[in-house]
Amino acid sequence: ASYRIAVVVGSLRRDSFNRQLARALQSLAPQAFELQTVEIGDLPLYNQDDDAAPAAPVVRLKREIAGSDGVIFVTPEYNRSIPGVLKNAIDHASRPYGQSAWAGKPAGILGVSIGAIGTACAQQHLRCMLSYLEMPVLGQPEVYLQYKEGLLTTDGRIGEASRDFLQTWMDRYVDWVKQHAPRREEGFA
Ligand code: FNR
Repeated sequence: ASYRIAVVVGSLRRDSFNRQLARALQSLAPQAFELQTVEIGDLPLYNQDDDAAPAAPVVRLKREIAGSDGVIFVTPEYNRSIPGVLKNAIDHASRPYGQSAWAGKPAGILGVSIGAIGTACAQQHLRCMLSYLEMPVLGQPEVYLQYKEGLLTTDGRIGEASRDFLQTWMDRYVDWVKQHAPRREEGFA
């Protein structure tokens, strides 16, 4: 594949709606885009004392993010913000100071929750963090999904009600990555 996209899921729950959504995204992506979910459940709690000697999962996370051409965040909302596990992963890969793996990676944000505002508050907080981390974040369309039966099909694809909308999102994100991943555009793949 020409473009490797790291997918970060903000829920560790086995049957997570967001994880299911993240998996289904590949079916909307063009062949040249390979989406790969990165593991964040095995990261230790961030402790600045460990910056000089990061644990193996931290090294792996940073390598996966640094080696990607873009990052998609798919997250639930916990108490009107992003889950701690996601913040923990963001903090880990942002350090040590000056060696952030996130900088410059074109980002996209999606989220599904059972609440009616569909992770809108969490996404606003996440947007702030990603801007600070110098990630160009796709602005539109915004994807606030409320989980309903049929959002995903039994074979793991996007259900009919949201398929066109999410396809539009993916098309826009693909353009966004091409626009902001000059490395690939210049033929250094
Ligand atoms: C929630 N949930 C939730 N939903 C929401 O819309 N706004 C919120 O602020 C919260 N807060 C919240 C806190 C905590 C600690 C939990 C466990 C849950 C409900 C949430 O949308 C629901 O559990 C989703 O199923 C979580 O996403 P996953 O795990 O299915 O991907």
